[in-house]
Amino acid sequence: MNTPSPLSHAEVEKIRREFPILQRKTASGAKLSFLDNAASTQRPTSVIDAMSECYLRYYANVHRGIHTLSEETTAAYEEARKTLANFINASSVQEVIFTAGATASINTVARTWGDQNLSEGDVILTTIAEHHANIVPWHQLAERTGCKVIFLPIEDDFTFSTDLVKEYLERFRPKLFAFTAASNVLGTKPPVARWISLARSVDAITLVDGSQAAPHETLDVQQLDADFVVFSGHKMCGPTGIGILYGKQQLLDSMPPFLGGGGMIQRVSVEGFETAELPDKFEAGTPPIAEAIGIAAAADYLTRIGLDRIAQHEHTLCQIADSGLRLIDDVEVIGPHPCDKGGIVSFSLNSVHAHDIAHQLDSLGIAVRAGHHCTMPLHRAMKKTSTTRASFYLYNTPEEAEQFVSAIEAVQNKFAKTGRRRRSR
Ligand code: ALA
Repeated sequence: MNTPSPLSHAEVEKIRREFPILQRKTASGAKLSFLDNAASTQRPTSVIDAMSECYLRYYANVHRGIHTLSEETTAAYEEARKTLANFINASSVQEVIFTAGATASINTVARTWGDQNLSEGDVILTTIAEHHANIVPWHQLAERTGCKVIFLPIEDDFTFSTDLVKEYLERFRPKLFAFTAASNVLGTKPPVARWISLARSVDAITLVDGSQAAPHETLDVQQLDADFVVFSGHKMCGPTGIGILYGKQQLLDSMPPFLGGGGMIQRVSVEGFETAELPDKFEAGTPPIAEAIGIAAAADYLTRIGLDRIAQHEHTLCQIADSGLRLIDDVEVIGPHPCDKGGIVSFSLNSVHAHDIAHQLDSLGIAVRAGHHCTMPLHRAMKKTSTTRASFYLYNTPEEAEQFVSAIEAVQNKFAKTGRRRRSR
């Protein structure tokens, strides 16, 4: 594979100008350094303009009206679906369902495929590094059906052992293997295609949580051969309130609908109803129309810049932050070496609570997330109550990564009581 050309300083500066929010100052009057992208990203003007254009010039409900505005909106909505199908290389638009977000997508699978296919004694395999959206729906499914949820542990170096995946798949014979393509805390990226192929060899269905991957790297669903892939718009420069559920057509066809209402039916009578074809079957009610147009604009934006270049840029920033933090006394970096992870650096600093760190950073204009990051089981397994996380995106700069490291050093100095110093390089 060719190495992508790095995003140049001038390109990153141009990108930053496309995100007007990055020009603002924080409450303390400091220049904003937004390093909370794993929670939610910012939007470029092209996304905001696409959504404004929809509301200002042609908005109406979709698939319902025989009038110009409805026809134009329906065309834009279905064009957005095509863009997203291309973005993940789905073999057909029928396989791309617009949902309210990754959480809604996973819940849809749990309530439909899960309720239909799992029963007492069946196993769902997942990993200890999942965020709650890829845990709680399976616990709920277990409560409804009596199936069991088994968690793959993380290794001491914050990676996963594929040998252990193989062993768990063979030992537990799960019906479903649901795992993240990139941990939102550790940044760890498992070999997704390999895990899918191992799952296939024991006839397990796979669900890949692409929330932290689709915004940062190419996810080719056909190449991966995934059964289900989910992700959210707001983590990829798109709007909130929209996400994608990708499913293989044969699987989606075999599943019952989830929410009932207008749009997901062929026919309704006093006796019952007939379900519409894909993808409408899973899109009951008025869908997130401007949001679909917004997520498509975001996908176009990321594609124009190049996901491989974005991934490389984040890797550079992660490398700066990760290696800088590892030189500070009392900092424990929670995650693998930068080579094995996405643009996420989590850490703890002995005797300083993560919330105090985040407050201190905020006073310097640096936005990070502190807490359990919706991953309580992972934190418990690591014997931590909280960590602090910096997560980078295409508009962050090397200077911001360096400033972040210096800020942590300053926090450490401020809170240090006895003889702590920077280790020699
Ligand atoms: N799962 C999101 C995060 O990592 C909300 O912050």
